[in-house]
Amino acid sequence: MADVKITVKRNGPYRVECPEGAVSLVDADGNSYDLTGKTGFSLCRCGGSTNKPFCDGTHSKIGFQGAEAAVKQAEGNEQLPPKTTL
Ligand code: FES
Repeated sequence: MADVKITVKRNGPYRVECPEGAVSLVDADGNSYDLTGKTGFSLCRCGGSTNKPFCDGTHSKIGFQGAEAAVKQAEGNEQLPPKTTL
């Protein structure tokens, strides 16, 4: 099994779980975000976070729906992706 797990949360962020120091996160200029002591963090997928690239929970307030669910609904397929657990 991989050391890094990225979960696309239903109607929420990308949840990254990894051993401390296993992942580096950098901005467009290559500057690193401080992930000291973190073994998990969530990356905003809705675009509404005021703390990008991290999720701040805004997705819940704005009713964000993940694209994969929207596509399935548009195609008339009510089946959603399997639920994942952490
Ligand atoms: S996904 Fe959580 S604030 Fe955007």
